[in-house]
Amino acid sequence: MLDFRYILLLSLTLSSAVLGSQKQTCEKTTVAILGGGTAGITAAQSLSNNSMHDFIILEYNSDIGGRLRHTTFGQAVDGNPRTIEVGANWIQGLGTPGGPQNPIWLLVGYIVGHIQERYSNVADTLRPIPKAQKYGVNSTYSNYSSILTYDETGYNDYSQLFDTFGHVYTTLEELAPKKDMKMQAVEWWEWDWEYAYEPDQSSLVFDIMNYNTSFCQWSNENNFVWDQRGFNTWLKGEASTFLSDNDERLHLNTIVTNVTYSGTGLTITDSQGNCFEAEYAICTFSVGVLQNRAVSFDPEFPGWKQDGIATFDMGTYTKIFLQFSPDEVFWPKDTQYFLYADPKERRWYPVFQSLDTPGFLEGSGIIFVTVVHDQAYRVEAQTDGETKDQVMAILRHMFGADKVPDPIAFMYPRWSLEPWAYGSYSNWPNGVSLEMHQNLRTNVGRLYFAGEATSTEYFGFLQGAWYEGKSVGRLLCATT
Ligand SMILES: Cc1cc2nc3c(=O)[nH]c(=O)nc-3n(C[C@H](O)[C@H](O)[C@H](O)COP(=O)(O)OP(=O)(O)OC[C@H]3O[C@@H](n4cnc5c(N)ncnc54)[C@H](O)[C@@H]3O)c2cc1C
Ligand SMILES: *[C@@H]1O[C@H](CO)[C@@H](O)[C@H](O)[C@H]1NC(C)=O
Ligand SMILES: *[C@@H]1O[C@H](CO)[C@@H](O)[C@H](O)[C@H]1NC(C)=O
Ligand SMILES: *[C@@H]1O[C@H](CO)[C@@H](O)[C@H](O)[C@H]1NC(C)=O
Ligand SMILES: *[C@@H]1O[C@H](CO)[C@@H](O)[C@H](O)[C@H]1NC(C)=O
Ligand SMILES: *[C@@H]1O[C@H](CO)[C@@H](O)[C@H](O)[C@H]1NC(C)=O
Repeated sequence: MLDFRYILLLSLTLSSAVLGSQKQTCEKTTVAILGGGTAGITAAQSLSNNSMHDFIILEYNSDIGGRLRHTTFGQAVDGNPRTIEVGANWIQGLGTPGGPQNPIWLLVGYIVGHIQERYSNVADTLRPIPKAQKYGVNSTYSNYSSILTYDETGYNDYSQLFDTFGHVYTTLEELAPKKDMKMQAVEWWEWDWEYAYEPDQSSLVFDIMNYNTSFCQWSNENNFVWDQRGFNTWLKGEASTFLSDNDERLHLNTIVTNVTYSGTGLTITDSQGNCFEAEYAICTFSVGVLQNRAVSFDPEFPGWKQDGIATFDMGTYTKIFLQFSPDEVFWPKDTQYFLYADPKERRWYPVFQSLDTPGFLEGSGIIFVTVVHDQAYRVEAQTDGETKDQVMAILRHMFGADKVPDPIAFMYPRWSLEPWAYGSYSNWPNGVSLEMHQNLRTNVGRLYFAGEATSTEYFGFLQGAWYEGKSVGRLLCATT
């Protein structure tokens, strides 16, 4: 996949060198939206809603969605290969019918499994499903109590540590000195898994605010999306409300390389030598793309802006997928999570998550393990074969060498190396103030910024990208 892209990029670069001189007229637009992920598409919808239709969207990939991204995986064990999400997977913090709800949840809906049963005790569910929950994307309540604990000897019940840990945010510092490997595994489960960084690398204040806004404001529930059309069904649905089929304003396979900005307008160039002239632009590139200087901005960003970009963190969260023959599934099928504490290496393949479980992709034989931060960089830098051997060794410790066959499929994305993402999602590091974060968000001349990372309250989440896209669209409508 990556190799193919590089070859494509190379050949595009070569052809632009040849053709470059012939392409002199720039396409003109009022607003150029750089990136067609959640923030970019939502910004465009926000402009459209405000009767501003003269915009273009420039997107690197062959489809919209950005880090909301799925693929088909594995063998067609019962007729169909399965769709799995390599990027965002949960709707995080749902909300209650009739009360405040996560905007993504309102779009994505609806409920399969326990939440539905739970809600049926609430008088509110007697109302019709809100119309906005229109895409009916299948998801199931992630039951974080449905977890079994393991170490190198196999099943070992240290689940009492979850209680010891109690409310993670109040106990983190007290526990730090006496953490053994099992405690570390539990800590990973309670913290790193969400923020893709260890607690001591994170800003407790802003991460807890981030936690509060999604999980206390709405509800402490996460639904895991397994819809076979893909999680981005809702985003494509929303895009189709204002973009026609083959809409000329949507430029796919368009790699922005240079952005020249000023107080009066912008010129944007892509890797094929095409140029676009805009009165305003909205940059939705990830913090990873900005930090890696994957796109050249001219003039260079002022110091305060560069600091705002440099001081924020881009985390990496890597899901490693394995498929086993469905009649050889060796893990307890009614359990969603399996926590592993390695005796030697911190955070070594800590959480396995079953998809071959009621309410998910039953009959698929699929399980995946997640690593973050340093372990993610390590895994993403090694070959599939090396990673597969390591994961299989752990599974055999956990479930017994005689019970665990070889997988029939194996795959994982390498987020830290994707030239259009350079990581998974942002995290608020220790020592970054509100003002430094505002510098990441603030415009330079007529170049505006939006995306999950520019959201003070919801950074890291889809709802952050959605709110930021919506608000920058409104702002530009008021400005233009
Ligand atoms: C592995 C993983 C797990 C996640 N889990 C969750 C989750 O469970 N729940 C949740 O709410 N969120 C989750 N997230 C975060 C969520 O995916 C993001 O917050 C959200 O998708 C970001 O949207 P965005 O529009 O800000 O950025 P993006 O989706 O990155 O959009 C930016 C767009 O810019 C494009 N682009 C980049 N460079 C260029 C260029 N040079 N030229 C042209 N276009 C370019 C990209 O292709 C992309 O489409 C996860 C992310 C990952 C990667
Ligand atoms: C645009 O308007 C529609 C219809 O009112 C609404 O559902 C949608 O959320 C709006 N989008 C944005 C980004 O404001
Ligand atoms: C979650 O899992 C636990 C442990 O298996 C179980 O007791 C509980 O009923 C489950 N909760 C829901 C809402 O399914
Ligand atoms: C988070 O919510 C708790 C409980 O409502 C509150 O005590 C705490 O001050 C909040 N923290 C932040 C950082 O907002
Ligand atoms: C959604 O869930 C229903 C009920 O389990 C199932 O019949 C349907 O095939 C699922 N649709 C998709 C697109 O995943
Ligand atoms: C694009 O940026 C690169 C790197 O800064 C620079 O070498 C090149 O001249 C720029 N091209 C254009 C068309 O501005």
